[in-house]
Amino acid sequence: MPTRMIADRTVSTIGLGGMPMSIEGRPDAARSVATIHAALDEGVTLFDTADAYHLHADEVGHNETLIAGAIASWGGDTSDVLVATKGGHLRPGDGTWYVDGRPEYLKKAAEASLARLGGDAIGLYQFHRPDPAVPYADSIGALVELLDAGTIRLAGISNANVDQIRLAQELLGGRLASVQNQFSPAFRSSEPELELCTELGIAFIPWSPLGGISSAARLGERFAPFQQVAADRGVSPQVVCLAWHLAKSPVVIPIPGASRPESIRDSVHAAGITLTSEELALLG
Ligand SMILES: NC(=O)c1ccc[n+]([C@@H]2O[C@H](COP(=O)([O-])OP(=O)(O)OC[C@H]3O[C@@H](n4cnc5c(N)ncnc54)[C@H](OP(=O)(O)O)[C@@H]3O)[C@@H](O)[C@H]2O)c1
Repeated sequence: MPTRMIADRTVSTIGLGGMPMSIEGRPDAARSVATIHAALDEGVTLFDTADAYHLHADEVGHNETLIAGAIASWGGDTSDVLVATKGGHLRPGDGTWYVDGRPEYLKKAAEASLARLGGDAIGLYQFHRPDPAVPYADSIGALVELLDAGTIRLAGISNANVDQIRLAQELLGGRLASVQNQFSPAFRSSEPELELCTELGIAFIPWSPLGGISSAARLGERFAPFQQVAADRGVSPQVVCLAWHLAKSPVVIPIPGASRPESIRDSVHAAGITLTSEELALLG
């Protein structure tokens, strides 16, 4: 599996997003574990999760626990695996989401994530979503403290605009490791943030890279050029889509979600595909 960098950490070019295994429509635990093991078998070393990937109020961290357990039970060498989690976005258990970016809350949430993930520090901790009720600098201040205390090894942000990326990079003293924003054929408005990450050498992790859990299967139907390139190459439109992400910039590391082993086994093929300039022009 080819690799890319998140700060000083080498990770697989294609990661695995954990959300479909823990929210509405999730499979049973055995299928989720099989999916995570399939990813590890394929050489995936980046796993994206969040404390908020759960359904019911009393199971905060469901996805963190699932991923940590599956990595532990895999049986191979996992020393190069990076689990990236997030805090600051919450689910009360009724299907809704809300934000809490208070520094005191974020520091407690990170400690709780660390306890679930195990080990002596969180590999990559991402501030999930700006809280309009809290100055952004205050939330980022919690990341600075967590880094300095050694609770987290790398700090990232998510759902951030260009000004927030610049502010976070400044407050973190140049230690901002990653930006995780929505990006897919249907949702391309984070081009400026992607360009800034490329300029600054910060990893850009597109979320819902295939268009999201409910749309990913229909990617080829929705976007004819992706279907066409896929047919020409004899691969799935989802693989073409992930290769299109990778072609955007060397800092891009997609994290396609999966709840079936077949999905991640297919997605990793994107790491071996270099799209031609003609294909990229067609895909837009
Ligand atoms: N930072 C944020 O605010 C934020 C928000 C949303 C998501 N995320 C992160 O980003 C990750 C990815 O986003 P997402 O899961 O929402 O959407 P996505 O990656 O666009 O789509 C996920 C769906 O794609 C399907 N899929 C994956 N690979 C496939 C393939 N090769 N062929 C056909 N179908 C395939 C999976 O189906 P099966 O389930 O059938 O395997 C899965 O349900 C999440 O899991 C989460 O870690 C972050």
